[in-house]
Parts: sequence; C-alpha cells; structure tokens
Amino acid sequence: MLQALTDRLAQHPIAYDQLRRVIEFNFVALHRALSEARERLNIDDKDGWILDLPCGTGIFATNIEEDAYVGADLEALYVSAARRRHPARHFQVADGTALPYADESFQGAILMGFLHHLDEPTVGAVLAEVARVLRPDAWLILIEDAPSPGFRNPIGWCLQKLDVGDHIRESDAYTPLLEPAFREQYRRSFASGFWNYTMWLGRKQDLGDREATPAER
Ligand SMILES: C[S@@+](CC[C@H](N)C(=O)[O-])C[C@H]1O[C@@H](n2cnc3c(N)ncnc32)[C@H](O)[C@@H]1O
Repeated sequence: MLQALTDRLAQHPIAYDQLRRVIEFNFVALHRALSEARERLNIDDKDGWILDLPCGTGIFATNIEEDAYVGADLEALYVSAARRRHPARHFQVADGTALPYADESFQGAILMGFLHHLDEPTVGAVLAEVARVLRPDAWLILIEDAPSPGFRNPIGWCLQKLDVGDHIRESDAYTPLLEPAFREQYRRSFASGFWNYTMWLGRKQDLGDREATPAER
C-alpha cells in the first residue's frame, strides 16, 4: 500500500518534491555536497557544458550556471516541471542509455539519485553512454541513495523501504561499476535529513590502448 502511495506521488512531481524536501531537511546537505564536489574537482562552469542526468524536476539545476547547464530525464512529466521551474535553462527528454548528444560534448556530468533504480547491465549501458558524451579530461559527480544504518537512522531506514529504487547498493559497490570508464578520486557517505547517500567523485579514464569491455563498445 505504501509503495502504491509513493508510485502515485511520483506522478505529481511537485508534491513528490515537497515530500522529499521535508524528509531531507530542505536538501541542505545535498547542496553542500555538490559545493564540496565542485571545489574538489575544481569545476569552472565557463569550461564547457555540464550534463545533469537525470535532472528530475530540476531541483539541483541552480548549482550550475545557466549557460553551462543541460538537464536530461526520461520522464516528460518531470522535464515539463523542470522547464516551468527554470524557464531559461535547457532541459530535454532523453534516455540515459541512448543520449542525443555528440561524442565528447561535456566537460562533466552529475548523476544523482539514478543508478539505484537500474540493474547492473543497464548501469553499464548508462555509464558507457555518459563516458561517450564526456570529454577525455571530464569529471563525474555521482550521488546515490545508500543503505540507511537501521539502528542509527530508524526513520530513514523505514522511509527507504518505500523508495522505488530496487538496486540500492553499498558505497563500495560503485567503484567496480564505474571503473571501466572512470577513475575514483574521492568518496564519502553522508545523511541528507533522514536519507542516506554516498558521493563518488572521479574522472574519465584514459583508456589508452586497453581493449574496450562489451559495455563500452
Ligand atoms: C530519484 S529521481 C532523481 C532526479 C534528480 N537527479 C534529483 O535528484 O532530483 C530519478 C529520475 O531518474 C529518471 N530516469 C529513470 N530511468 C531513466 C533513464 N533510463 N534515462 C533518464 N532518466 C531516467 C526518472 O525519470 C527520475 O526523474
């Protein structure tokens, strides 16, 4: 019943956002994590386009300058809500496994609250596609829902049971998933209100002469 309730709420993006805003204490910790990531990766918005995948309703778009920002999401409903929220920004309906962008178009990408919805083969396809559209020197910010420590965060643990993500992974699980295309630079776990996340920062790997894996081809 609770799962049905969250599924229905997801059809009302702004109401869903408000619920998340309460659970995550106005997203203060997530905005702080994004600022930290920008500093650690030395990001300069003037250095080229930045991809926000998936952008959802554009809640975190303002962390990137308007001129550099491209938001993409599979759900037209969410993209419409994002356009209403930020009319001057560029948003597009797009599938992360088949992005409508040329090779090496972006200086970096932010993947937030995404991979925990996807099984491993789909994660491989998304990461290969993201690597394709990133420049050779590109950076990656990954922020994913992580398991809540039940005894320390009982409310978060219960709420996470309602989340629609079927593939919530331990923080350690991301490095091997990302490694074919990205090299880890920094990782930490944090709480955003009652929710738990892991943040992974890295750079696109120089594949050199190494033979590409099937996921990268
Ligand atoms: C939890 S939301 C996160 C959105 C945003 N990053 C945020 O933190 O507010 C997950 C999003 O993934 C999108 N999504 C799921 N599968 C996708 C795919 N294959 N390509 C692009 N977006 C996808 C959904 O439409 C949804 O907006």
